[in-house]
Amino acid sequence: MPGFEIFGDEERREVQDVLDSGVLMRYGFDGARNGHWKAATLEKELAERLGSKYAHLCSSGTAAVATALAACGVGAGDEVIVAPFTFVADLEMILMAGAVPVFADIDETLCLSPESVSAAITDKTKAVLLVHMCGAMARVDELAALCDARGVVLIEDAAQALGAHFRGKALGTFGKVGCFSFDYVKTITCGEGGAIITDDAGVYEIMQAYTDHGHDHVGSDRGAENHPHIGTNFRISELNAAVGVAQLRKLDRMLELQRANKAYIKDGLTGLNRVSFRHLPDKDGDSATFLSFFMPTEEEARQGAKDLAVAGVDGCFYWYDNNWHYHRRWQHLKQLKAPGALAPDKLGYGENWADGDLSESDAIMGRTICMLIKLSWDEPALAARLEKMKSVLA
Ligand SMILES: Cc1ncc(COP(=O)(O)O)c(C=O)c1O
Repeated sequence: MPGFEIFGDEERREVQDVLDSGVLMRYGFDGARNGHWKAATLEKELAERLGSKYAHLCSSGTAAVATALAACGVGAGDEVIVAPFTFVADLEMILMAGAVPVFADIDETLCLSPESVSAAITDKTKAVLLVHMCGAMARVDELAALCDARGVVLIEDAAQALGAHFRGKALGTFGKVGCFSFDYVKTITCGEGGAIITDDAGVYEIMQAYTDHGHDHVGSDRGAENHPHIGTNFRISELNAAVGVAQLRKLDRMLELQRANKAYIKDGLTGLNRVSFRHLPDKDGDSATFLSFFMPTEEEARQGAKDLAVAGVDGCFYWYDNNWHYHRRWQHLKQLKAPGALAPDKLGYGENWADGDLSESDAIMGRTICMLIKLSWDEPALAARLEKMKSVLA
């Protein structure tokens, strides 16, 4: 994803402000910081951009997921429903919370299907962790209604979908909490960073304390602050936040370029017999960081991804065989390889705890290729890429 493609003077100026004052911490040192509050500025602008009451920054998208789970009260023994196509961080953070990840299937949105989530809910289910994969949305309105009806908390992980929306409402604002990542390969980057958004004042209070050892951030004497509960150090630094301030102000231009580049390639591939596209519940809301398409069979998709690489079409991912994003290669997780015992072990879920039937997801992901969309492609580069893709995929 493209944030790193467009570093410029804007990022340099914001970072220089921080270096000039020498205050690298987001809290305190009011007198020394020359009026620069980069984390607070980014939080304000992010909340405005996403249409959310509160935004709180943290040190990574992984920290955002951990904080969201904590702020929604997920704890020991709770079950959290999650997709088999996601990033391992979601599974790791559920386990770190002392909870049990429960897989449900995806559909052709490449995200959790409401039908499968509904079937996976038990009396132990506390939350659904809905990941909007590869820049676009799940059937998020249906999932939000389902969670409401069944008394389950909806948490959205929109780490890969900043700027995407469903019928004009930003992804991340449908659940109780939405999570974002600003790591080096996300739509906008801080180097490392993340954010959690919510409309709930109580949840916000927990989030901002949880990411800073439980500090309530009342008053100006850090040593005298109260601790309403325990927490962690998931703080973002002012240096990271400064980069994010400049990047967020470029988001609309990035989205415009991404959408134009994606439309060019997608239009060019439309009509090829062997190619069909990911289902988008709202085409206009796609952030267009990826073009995801299906081949008729697993063999054709695996071979297609290889042939595209050989033809010089870079950035085409066959996630089905990938170690990070798809459950088939997560043996370390499924075998609960951790320094200490984890919840599924302790609670007697058995060693096959993660071996449920995910054949619907496998049938979809086995046929899926996702191509990264770059900002830097000009018209000749786009035309050359499309021709190569057509020759491989036709
Ligand atoms: C869906 C998803 N969630 C969470 C994360 C974690 O973000 P970070 O790398 O900032 O910890 C990622 C990172 O790739 C991701 O793709």
